[in-house]
Amino acid sequence: APIVHVLGARPNFVKAAPVISALAAAGAEQAVIHTGQHYDARMSEVFFDQLGLPEPDVNLGVGSGGHAEQTAALMIGLEKEFTGRSPALVIVYGDVNSTIAAALVAAKLHIPVAHVEAGLRSFDMTMPEEVNRRITDQLSALCLVTSPEGIGHLAAEGVAVERAHLVGNPMIDTLLANLDQFDTAAVRAAHGLPERYVLATMHRPANVDAPETAAALVRRLHGVADLADLVIPVHPRGRANLLAAGLDEHDRVHILEPLGYIDFIAAVRGAAAVVTDSGGLQEETTILGVPCLTVRPNTERPITITHGTNRLVTFEELVPGVRKCLEGGAAPGGGPGGRRPPLWDGHAGPRIAEVIMEFLGE
Ligand code: UD1
Repeated sequence: APIVHVLGARPNFVKAAPVISALAAAGAEQAVIHTGQHYDARMSEVFFDQLGLPEPDVNLGVGSGGHAEQTAALMIGLEKEFTGRSPALVIVYGDVNSTIAAALVAAKLHIPVAHVEAGLRSFDMTMPEEVNRRITDQLSALCLVTSPEGIGHLAAEGVAVERAHLVGNPMIDTLLANLDQFDTAAVRAAHGLPERYVLATMHRPANVDAPETAAALVRRLHGVADLADLVIPVHPRGRANLLAAGLDEHDRVHILEPLGYIDFIAAVRGAAAVVTDSGGLQEETTILGVPCLTVRPNTERPITITHGTNRLVTFEELVPGVRKCLEGGAAPGGGPGGRRPPLWDGHAGPRIAEVIMEFLGE
């Protein structure tokens, strides 16, 4: 019986690549189900190509919708697939709606679930991702944890210790494996970017869904652009609201389409600072040593603050925060001189494969 990976959204692809290749090296039979939660070529195919992911065995084509609508469609499609394929184990990644849908369906079919990136907590239940994480961890036979505090979070929620394994961060495996491909000069040339710039990404519902919030954010982003050129690859979510609020009405704002993995990280690596509400980018900037300002009231990744380059900022703190980074006042990161979180060493994939093969008795 195969190990079935369920992948749906952009960050899933980055985390799965090293796990799939480590399991292949261990001789595991595998299948990949793409749910189609992310479906634009720039949000999906590019990642499969650049990360050397195997072509999905099936794409459920679920697409977008409200939470109930999307999660229900995911569950219906996944139940058929799991019933047909009888997996030995289902592996889910991160905290997106595809993650929780797959965990729920597998649990009810009595198929064990392994959750990669278990144990992260923002303790903010207004975030859909926090709901998804908590429930997924409860349903998982194997909780594969990226950061030491995750083990304590799981214990506090009653997850039996033998289910939790600290394995490190597979997103960092992908980053380190591709380090020599990130060519900042090439990305700058391809997109006509200046030598010095701040890179921003914004897509959280709390920042972009309400037009008035999006407008307040755009005012601050224009404040950042007054200090330095601002490069923004725009996620489809929030695109309309940010543009309606006049995001592009500033000479030093460079709006880009969503970038592929290699171009995106190359652009991050060359940035003077990053402004974001992404989860993964807090981790990637920590390893690259690029100062990161996270526009959120909390983070499920506090180790990027204690060990890395990350800082939480309010809208009000954003422009002064960027100014400080540009003046060189930001904390050093996990790159040269900084502290790297434990086990963010490029070998999480093989550790995950080892835990899984042992669980399956192989
Ligand atoms: C999802 C995750 C979020 C993650 C993000 C990464 C959930 C609850 N959220 O958010 O945690 O940080 O992915 O990108 O799963 N859209 C497109 N093309 C696409 C995909 C989406 O145009 O390929 C647009 C649609 O208008 C859609 C909207 O983006 O309605 C939101 O997509 P959805 O999959 O619901 O969540 P994300 O905001 O992408």
